[in-house]
Amino acid sequence: FQPKLLAGKRVLITAGPTYEAIDPVRGITNLSSGKMGYAVARAAREAGAEVTLVSGPTALETPHGVRRIDVQSAQQMLDAVMAGIHGQHVFIGVAAVADWRVENASEQKIKKDGSGTPQLQFAQNPDILATVAGTTSLNGWPYCVGFAAESENLIAYGAAKREKKGIPLLVGNIGHHTFGQDENSIVLFDDSGHTVLPQASKLQLARQLVSEIAKRLEQRSLL
Ligand code: C5P
Repeated sequence: FQPKLLAGKRVLITAGPTYEAIDPVRGITNLSSGKMGYAVARAAREAGAEVTLVSGPTALETPHGVRRIDVQSAQQMLDAVMAGIHGQHVFIGVAAVADWRVENASEQKIKKDGSGTPQLQFAQNPDILATVAGTTSLNGWPYCVGFAAESENLIAYGAAKREKKGIPLLVGNIGHHTFGQDENSIVLFDDSGHTVLPQASKLQLARQLVSEIAKRLEQRSLL
């Protein structure tokens, strides 16, 4: 029996990698499989929430009962998130958003015509999570949750990242070899410190995360 901890709540989740075009047939992406974000979407839906999943390119099936919006680039992900953010109770940024996009992407396929190698110029992408977190200062909603994949000093970097992004809850991936795996272990950072959730399947961890989020929403509404 799964209690409907998020009944009546609307939850918006980003998942997967983003894809930044170099030309019409080439681009830059990363190793995110989308598994964790999709597991969180499934767990939130199981908990009774109305779930919207804004997804970069993945090979995964849409979890049952979840509304999915497909995007490619970080800018498209931001646009889809901002178009749907109104009225959401919770925003969970699980996507591995590219930090940079190619500023001088070519409209036509770049040819190997002997004129040298392409010179790519990069521009910084918007930070979707920080943008959403910035809008919460208006009325405190949605409750924002971020993820972090660090290759070292997770405890120190995780706590600092939570503060920098201005969010109440940040989930750190323990170890950076989680991409594409079915299991993970995570650490939750909030204003009272950090808590480790030991290794388990991404779905089990997603269910634990959803119940931790529900607990914090409950505490908020009691304040
Ligand atoms: O700063 P960093 O990329 O480590 O932060 C990771 C968190 O921020 C994740 O929750 C990710 O989904 C989110 N993020 C974002 N937009 C970006 C970069 C990261 O929403 N451009």
